[in-house]
Amino acid sequence: MQNDIAEVLISEEKITECCKRLGKQIENDYKDKNPIIIGLLKGCEPFMSDLIKNINTYIRTDYMDCSSYHGTMSTGTVIIKKDVDEDVKDQDVIIVDDIIDTGVTLHDIVRVLKERGAKSVKTCVLLSKDVKRKHELNVDYVGTTVPNAFVVGYGLDFNEAYRNLPYIGVLKEELYK
Ligand code: IMP
Ligand code: MG
Repeated sequence: MQNDIAEVLISEEKITECCKRLGKQIENDYKDKNPIIIGLLKGCEPFMSDLIKNINTYIRTDYMDCSSYHGTMSTGTVIIKKDVDEDVKDQDVIIVDDIIDTGVTLHDIVRVLKERGAKSVKTCVLLSKDVKRKHELNVDYVGTTVPNAFVVGYGLDFNEAYRNLPYIGVLKEELYK
C-alpha cells in the first residue's frame, strides 16, 4: 500500500498539530454552547476522532453520509445516503469533513442544515485544496492547504482504499489515469 504513494504531503506530526490547534479554537468559540459536531462519513472518521479529543468542553456528535465523488471525479451534486439522528433546529452546528475541493458538498450540507432551522452552521476541514471552487464558501476552521492533486490517507480514499494510511499522500498517477 505504501508503495502506491508518490509523495507524502502532510505527515502524522503535522496532522496532530492541526487537530490540536483546531480543537482549541472550537473549544474557545463554543464554551457553554453544547454544539452538535456533524462528521461527514466516511472521510471524516480519523480526523473527527482526533479533533474531538482536543475539544475540552461539552459537545455532541452526529454523522451524515453524503457523496459527490465517483473514483477521482466530482459529480457536482450531493446525495444524502445517511442522515443525522439529531434534530438540528435551534442548535449550533459544526460540520466536519476531510477536505474541501469544489465546495459542492459543504455548500449543499450547510444549506440543508440552515433550512432545517439550525441556529448557526460552521464548517471545519482538515484540508483545503488549492483550486477554484464551484461554490465560494468561507470555511471557518481549516487545518492546512494541499495543492490540486488527488490525495489519499487519513480518511481520504481512492475507491475505498487508503483511508487507513496515517498520513496524507499523493497517489501515483498510473494507479488512476
Ligand atoms: P467537494 O464537494 O468537491 O468539495 O469534495 C468534497 C468531498 O470529495 C470530500 O468529502 C472528499 O470525500 C472528496 N474528495 C475531494 N478531493 C479528494 C481527494 O483529493 N482525494 C479523496 N477524496 C477527495
Ligand atoms: Mg467526503
